[in-house]
Amino acid sequence: MFKKIFSGVQPTGNLHLGNYLGAIKNFVDLNNDSKNDCIFCVVDLHAITVKQDKDQLTNNIRETAATFIASGIDPSKSIIFSQSKVHAHAEGSWILSCMAPMGWLNRMTQFKEKAGKDKERASVGLYIYPILMASDILLYDTTHVPVGEDQKQHLELTRDIAQKFNKDFDCEDFLRVPEPLIKKDFSRIMSLKDGLKKMSKSDPSDLSRINLTDTKDEIINKIKKAKTDSLPIPNEYQKLKDRSEAKNLLGIYSSISDQTLDKTLEEFGGKNFSDLKSQLAEVLSSKIFPISDEIKKLIKDQNYLDKVLAEGANKAEEMAGKKIKEMKKIIGF
Ligand code: AMP
Ligand code: TRP
Repeated sequence: MFKKIFSGVQPTGNLHLGNYLGAIKNFVDLNNDSKNDCIFCVVDLHAITVKQDKDQLTNNIRETAATFIASGIDPSKSIIFSQSKVHAHAEGSWILSCMAPMGWLNRMTQFKEKAGKDKERASVGLYIYPILMASDILLYDTTHVPVGEDQKQHLELTRDIAQKFNKDFDCEDFLRVPEPLIKKDFSRIMSLKDGLKKMSKSDPSDLSRINLTDTKDEIINKIKKAKTDSLPIPNEYQKLKDRSEAKNLLGIYSSISDQTLDKTLEEFGGKNFSDLKSQLAEVLSSKIFPISDEIKKLIKDQNYLDKVLAEGANKAEEMAGKKIKEMKKIIGF
């Protein structure tokens, strides 16, 4: 079946193993299927919903594009561009924010987590962030959106907004209602230091995550220091209940090795964590280090990255520009 794929990653630095296994690895598989049309966006307008340093932001936009390419996304097959270069995203976001009731936004858990206790100080942009995400997706008649599990609620909102627009303006099927593509297993990679917390770029401890720019030694050291428990590794899934750190390490091993958790439990059941850790460090460094090495090479070639982003933006502009024009006509502009 033909799929129109759209996804986005924020250029906020420190892309990590959670981003890779939860999202970018799937982007690569989708890019490699010739039946798909894929668009991968560096969502820089989303990044400024929290304060950014100007020079770092510029570098992070290039580094995110470099990470896509280094992971295996081919810019001659898929569109790679940055969101701020295509006007329609912000324009669509305004239009959709006039359709979406505040009650829907008030339910968003990511806003509550990111805004923390002092909601009065959070930016309005952070509050309406999911509407900009809906605009990104809906402007391209996207059929499928590959993301990690944490974005599920935002995708449900996108579907609701599309349906409401179509109903309010009596234009059935104008905005295509997209399907989420969230992996059943391993769609949420947890911190190496706390199996109940998501692996995240904002965790103050660098030991909590494997960055996609880590060296081999850093990867080995972080896996060695990863939290485990004192029981041996079980050979069946049920026995992993309440053992979040063990489950996470076994999940990471399965996901990076493209095998089921059952197969991993068969391989390591009854063994010690030191066995799992040494194998995991090996497979991670063999898969992540080449990406890290390639990112560092690509970053030095700014002209190339800027050219990829500019060509991507031209193609995206053509598609999104057409859709926003139709949208405005429907509204009466
Ligand atoms: P972000 O860096 O927040 O823009 O996220 C980019 C993509 O990575 C999204 O699809 C997220 O769902 C995914 N992602 C981020 N953190 C994790 C994690 N710890 N586990 C799985 N997926 C994640
Ligand atoms: N909100 C997503 C995240 O934090 C990033 C994002 C922005 C996105 N626009 C998107 C993902 C469109 C998928 C589709 O991970």
